[in-house]
Amino acid sequence: MSAGIGRYLGSSVLRKQLVAITGLVMVGFVVAHLSGNLLIYGGPDVFNAYAQKLQDIAPLLWVMRVGLIISTALHIVLTMTLVLENNAARGRSYQVGRSKEPRSFATQTMRYSGILIILFVALHLYDFTFASKTGPGSVVAGLNDGKSLELFGLVWNGFKQGWRSVIYVLAVSSVGLHLSHGIQSVFQTVGFNHERYTPIIRKASIAVGVLVALGFASLPIYVLLAKVPFGV
Ligand code: HEM
Repeated sequence: MSAGIGRYLGSSVLRKQLVAITGLVMVGFVVAHLSGNLLIYGGPDVFNAYAQKLQDIAPLLWVMRVGLIISTALHIVLTMTLVLENNAARGRSYQVGRSKEPRSFATQTMRYSGILIILFVALHLYDFTFASKTGPGSVVAGLNDGKSLELFGLVWNGFKQGWRSVIYVLAVSSVGLHLSHGIQSVFQTVGFNHERYTPIIRKASIAVGVLVALGFASLPIYVLLAKVPFGV
């Protein structure tokens, strides 16, 4: 191995690039997950049919899950090593080619929004992934003759509890905040800096963050406000 490659593998450059790539994998998941979740507006049959389709492709789903778990673990661990190194060598910046502009709120709070997202995902898996999809928690009073409404019922009943909806709205706001800085910093990491396009990328990154947060937040708000689900 040449000294150059050895230096590259040991340097923070590779780790920053891996943070960017794993971040993009997670952005892909979040956007796909949001698109699937919006099917809630189609009603119980549409949403449950979507959940069933995912179960039908279980082997592929597991490949994606393993990819997501590895990406998440790498993203967290590598970011932590970069932050620790950065703290140790004050004055040097984690971001390549960082501008002298004041750091935005999203930039300054990346580590806190990241921690909130980890805590949220743990609660979220407990709420929906590990919960029984046919148990009493999936039966919605007054609907479907007292029979389970499966995953739809679980989500509906979950968000009818105001405290859970508030937690979700706050959590998905953290996701949006994290993305609004994270996406643009992928471009900084690869050293892309263009007088015309960089400001556009910055705005687009914020727009994606806001849309993702609004899209997810709309679900608990809809459930809280609606008396009966659409499509029933
Ligand atoms: C209001 C917002 C959200 C709703 C209604 C929602 C809904 C769901 C539901 C119903 C499941 C279970 C799927 C199943 O077991 O078949 C699930 C799984 C999951 N959600 Fe969400 N979700 C939301 C936001 C998020 C966000 C913001 C993230 C990530 C930051 C996320 C990450 C996950 C993960 C990692 C899984 C497990 C996926 C798997 O088992 O393959 N969710 N979500």
